[in-house]
Amino acid sequence: MKYEKEINRRKTFAIISHPDAGKTTLTEKLLLFGGAIQTAGAVKSNKIKKHATSDFMEIERQRGISVATSVMTFEYENTLINLLDTPGHKDFAEDTYRTLTAVDSVILVVDSVNGVEEQTRRLMEVCRMRDTPVIVFINKMDRDGKNRFDLLEEIEKELRISLHPMTWAINSGKEFKGVYNLHEKNLRLFTASTKAEEDDTIAISDLSDPLLDTKVGDRDAEQLREDVELIDGVHGELNVPDYLSGKVAPVFFGSAVNNFGVKEMLDTFIQIAPTPRDRETSVRKVSVDEDKFSGFVFKIHANLDPKHRDRIAFMRVCSGRFERNKYYHHVRLDKDIRFSNPYSFMARSKDVIEDAYAGDVVGLFDTGNFKIGDTLTEGEDFFFTGIPTFSPEIFKELVNKDPMKTKQLEKGISQLTDEGVAQLFTQFGGNKKIIGCVGELQFEVIQYRLLQEYGAACEFRAMPFYKACWLTSNDQKKLDDFLRFKQQNSAEDKDGHPVYLAQSEWFLNTEITNNPDIQFHFSSEVH
Ligand code: G4P
Repeated sequence: MKYEKEINRRKTFAIISHPDAGKTTLTEKLLLFGGAIQTAGAVKSNKIKKHATSDFMEIERQRGISVATSVMTFEYENTLINLLDTPGHKDFAEDTYRTLTAVDSVILVVDSVNGVEEQTRRLMEVCRMRDTPVIVFINKMDRDGKNRFDLLEEIEKELRISLHPMTWAINSGKEFKGVYNLHEKNLRLFTASTKAEEDDTIAISDLSDPLLDTKVGDRDAEQLREDVELIDGVHGELNVPDYLSGKVAPVFFGSAVNNFGVKEMLDTFIQIAPTPRDRETSVRKVSVDEDKFSGFVFKIHANLDPKHRDRIAFMRVCSGRFERNKYYHHVRLDKDIRFSNPYSFMARSKDVIEDAYAGDVVGLFDTGNFKIGDTLTEGEDFFFTGIPTFSPEIFKELVNKDPMKTKQLEKGISQLTDEGVAQLFTQFGGNKKIIGCVGELQFEVIQYRLLQEYGAACEFRAMPFYKACWLTSNDQKKLDDFLRFKQQNSAEDKDGHPVYLAQSEWFLNTEITNNPDIQFHFSSEVH
């Protein structure tokens, strides 16, 4: 294949976690190893500490200046690593779900004290939908955490994935002595440092070696021997194909803030994590090694600086080679466009690039051509599939407060929903505009941005819906009748697809039972 060498040295992944588990800290350590940054503290957290719009806006403004933090590209041991950032706040979970469609694997950070948390569960569900390979990093071993065996059991049960320990922690909290690498058969004693050197490890190929007792003390040495025997008995060698198909997740223990246990994980990651994978489209499977370029937009970043209102569309290259200034086919718009300033995201600075290969993420200047999910090709008509929209959790009617600015409001809401900030539903008959979001914070952001960027004042009126379901049917008449009959609860989404807005689970179940010829779908993926 033409670009084999380039494509096979790429690994594109995301770090996911419940807020505060240590995603930002781990990201920073990985960048340190990659030489992409020189000092700790260089990566700013994208955390929204207070539940405040101003806080979010400030973060977005900073990101606008340095959108580079959305994708971090660095090299480690001849591997080109694309690390995609995901927002930590749960109100922006949709953004994270979409980012997960653009990666080939993930590293899941779990806080050893808190174990599996709400966001961990949701994010893993998305990974499971796509059989995304997962590596687990159990963080904060320097704190008094849960018993390690209990923790593994909890993760396996709650996240419905088999775990395979690659390292094993000797105690936790104040007693934390270090990690034993089950695979390499060496011991790394715990030290708080900003870098880890190869020679910090002590080779202990045979656990009966008295050196182990000398290093960690008799009691802990004995415990480690017992633990390892138990683990080896259960797990044996890691089965890499099982990892690649998302069935088994290798597990590492460590402390991100102390840069401990991170290198073990990174070294394994570059060995086993998948190179760019083939992808399904509406027509056929696209193989990464095809000569022809194809890619899709998974994220749109608005520049919140009113002087520069351009947007940046993040495109994942799925096959072949993308080139600057070459015309590509925008499938949805059926038009050819070219990009004179595509960006790459080498560590904290945006660089204009000449080309990019499958696995890479390219930033494209956008003046309004792109929607989330748009596909670019060299002429062929297909869409990449597997970029679902899930039902929002809160629904509100958009109320125009200034009739003189109706046009601005329409334009604003259309553009913001293209960016994926929220979902827009238009009620049948009544033509009410209903905005659906995952969290309250998004409504505040929309209101703020509509006013700041489009000069349109709006307010929101709560609506009694709890879920949106996308409808399909082989019997168009039955579907039309249903929509007419249930006018108050019927709407179309942005692409004109019919949606049923249910007030409660009871109503939804009743409609599902009463309308066997209509299919109710929980994501927009059906179209
Ligand atoms: P997030 O991106 O997943 O939200 O988490 P982040 O890395 O920001 O980490 C959350 C907090 O946990 C931070 O403390 C961070 O320093 C701390 N932390 C990360 N890794 C470890 C670890 O291995 N051990 C311990 N004990 N703490 C860890 P913070 O007080 O919220 O922020 P900061 O002011 O210290 O930066």
